[in-house]
Amino acid sequence: MTWTPTKYVAKDYSALKGLQTISDDQMTVHLALYTGYVNRSNKLNETVTAMLAEGKSGTAEYQELKRRAGWEHNGVLLHEYYFDNLTPGGKGNGKDSKFAAAVSHQFGDFDAWKADFLGTAKMPGVGWAVTYYDASRNQFDNYWIDRHDVGHPAGCKPILVLDLWEHAWSVYLKPTERAKYLEDFFANVSWDAVDGRL
Ligand SMILES: [Fe+2]
Repeated sequence: MTWTPTKYVAKDYSALKGLQTISDDQMTVHLALYTGYVNRSNKLNETVTAMLAEGKSGTAEYQELKRRAGWEHNGVLLHEYYFDNLTPGGKGNGKDSKFAAAVSHQFGDFDAWKADFLGTAKMPGVGWAVTYYDASRNQFDNYWIDRHDVGHPAGCKPILVLDLWEHAWSVYLKPTERAKYLEDFFANVSWDAVDGRL
């Protein structure tokens, strides 16, 4: 018995050129990296499926691919959340968004949520800052995620995703200018996209 895994298809993010301050060269590099995750995810799925059909599911090689799957697949998905919540110059006003109303109910106001998010995002190192919504508690939690495949709260929904790997800003900023990237990110957030995830 064999089956064919559904392929990941790289989304067209050509409209993301012209972001405020974040250079087109930066986005070109980042989108190429994203495509690499898509291609590796498809290759991994094809290899695992073939090995399963060949009766090799008990091998160490199979298991290592299984371990790697979360890295590659989340590499696709997190980048899509990130690119999808960006638009040139931003869209909508964060403070007037449905999201702002929701987090204000919890944090007191939008600025308190943002202070928590930025405090999370300023973690030294590379990774992701993500606002998750936990429906089981009706609560938003800002997480620092070191690796694509580790530390995500199960069953929670990514609402705002910020890529903080150096490849997200190292083309247009100096190594000492990471804090500026945080400002540039917020200048390009599509609050309409964020609201659409609620
Ligand atoms: Fe990235």
